[in-house]
Amino acid sequence: MANLKDKPRLRSTGSYGGRDKDAFIHRSWMKSQGFPADVFDGRPVIGICNTWSELTPCNSGLRDVAEHVKRGVWEAGGLPLEFPAMSLGETQMRPTAMLFRNLLAMEVEESIRGNPIDAVVLLGGCDKTTPGQLMGAASVDLPTLVVSSGPMLNGKFRGRDIGSGTDVWKFSEAVRAGQMPLGDFLSAEAGMSRTPGTCMTMGSASTMASLMEAMGIALPYNASAPAVDARRRMIAHDSGRTIVRMAREDVRLSKILTREAFENGIRVLAAIGGSTNTVLHLIALAARLGVPLDLNDFDRLSADVPLLVDLQPSGRFLMEDLHYAGGVPAVMKELTALLHADAPTICGQAIRENYAAAECYNREVIRPAGEPVKSASGIWVLKGNLCPAGAVMKPSAASESLLSHRGRAVVFESIEDLRARIDDPALEVEESSVLVLKGCGPKGYPGMPEVGNMPLPRKLLERGVKDMVRISDARMSGTAYGTVILHVAPEAEVGGPLAVVRNGDEILLDGPNRRLDLLIPANELKARLSNWQEQRPAPRYTRGYYRLYIDHVTQADQGCDFDFLIGASGSVVERESH
Ligand code: FES
Repeated sequence: MANLKDKPRLRSTGSYGGRDKDAFIHRSWMKSQGFPADVFDGRPVIGICNTWSELTPCNSGLRDVAEHVKRGVWEAGGLPLEFPAMSLGETQMRPTAMLFRNLLAMEVEESIRGNPIDAVVLLGGCDKTTPGQLMGAASVDLPTLVVSSGPMLNGKFRGRDIGSGTDVWKFSEAVRAGQMPLGDFLSAEAGMSRTPGTCMTMGSASTMASLMEAMGIALPYNASAPAVDARRRMIAHDSGRTIVRMAREDVRLSKILTREAFENGIRVLAAIGGSTNTVLHLIALAARLGVPLDLNDFDRLSADVPLLVDLQPSGRFLMEDLHYAGGVPAVMKELTALLHADAPTICGQAIRENYAAAECYNREVIRPAGEPVKSASGIWVLKGNLCPAGAVMKPSAASESLLSHRGRAVVFESIEDLRARIDDPALEVEESSVLVLKGCGPKGYPGMPEVGNMPLPRKLLERGVKDMVRISDARMSGTAYGTVILHVAPEAEVGGPLAVVRNGDEILLDGPNRRLDLLIPANELKARLSNWQEQRPAPRYTRGYYRLYIDHVTQADQGCDFDFLIGASGSVVERESH
């Protein structure tokens, strides 16, 4: 064990700085990789937590990004050590990548805590990788920053730009409506995803990357610089230099991610028309850090924020366009009056310094505050007897004519039920109907998949119907759109009122007053709920990670973290391994 004289200045010195058997073991095996003795001289050891994977195409550029982070770390006098973390490919994993966000968070937390590192750079991008890594890092609380994969270049199809996800949903509905030949649909695949990088719409990945900037834990332009652009590598290099300084100055994550940072994040989320998934991730992250944040904060803080960025799915353009127009700094400059300008950042300066000199080069993409794309933006948080613990919707991606709506429920008991009947010509459904989907919440699916933007019935599509009110306990891809009410809590699986909605029940959505109600008498609702409890189905999964997840995941209004992961354990490990 190290004696008092060897008392560590940096955390890594506790492993690499001694003269005993333990220090020998820690150093000797590292030297097998070719590191000379003097790199263990007490310099900051920087972990680079990489979610690169060929099964996560959005993160497939991160090997190269890691090399550029290392350049910056070496240059600044640190020792960079890259390590892998479970990668969550949104487009490849079943039943849904969200099921594994907490598993990634656990892996990252214990990898950081268990290893002799002083600070960490998180390399992520695809939807769940950024929040999973950040949640894990928050529970250790070392100096931490984020470098994102960066978005793909704009998709191209027959001479026009197409957007990841958003145009998949549009094309798919066009095929079902008989307006697009299947051959055209399939030929759009390669044009949509033509470079490495994350979805280039304002989906969940771009939203989280934008919020990393807005919350001060990524360098400016981290969100928008395309994955294949040299500026992505410059950001990585500069991030390497930055993390070494943060390690030396002990700038821990909790010093940056304050309540003010979360509030800035929520304001920017509204201005960019960001993903509803962010609500879950920010609530879970805040709870790791002990920052008070609840569902209502999203509605309250975004109420006076207009939609400034005209990006799909709420608008027209794509992330490449946002970058050329001035990126997130230009958006933040436009929002100055609503931001906590003194919030600290990893740059060692207040956030205002990150955007003070920003300029906007395209007023179609980033609108002036006085001429927004839409006045209704952000996240609406609904309450009512159908969602006692809340539900969310994104008004900027909804149809204005449906924001207040009363209609009769057409109920699907599961995703399989929906798929079997949605195109049935005999399905009793009208344009004014409200589609209700059960069994897609955190415990029910499990993992809360992105199926809340359920397809419209074919017979209505053929009549030209473009949108309907849809309600579920599921999530929706950040690239999706429509009058879609999500994250209904409590979910059907645990006996929330959603479980007892029946075909033909009237439902009232009053968006402006944030109400979602099942229009049946209170005693009838009570009787249905108690009857449901008596006939509650037996659990489907009895072992493994699925079982752990179902037993411990919290409801959507709490962020879907595991109940035993809330909070932090810090970075101290008291015992040696040999
Ligand atoms: Fe990976 Fe969209 S699927 S970012």
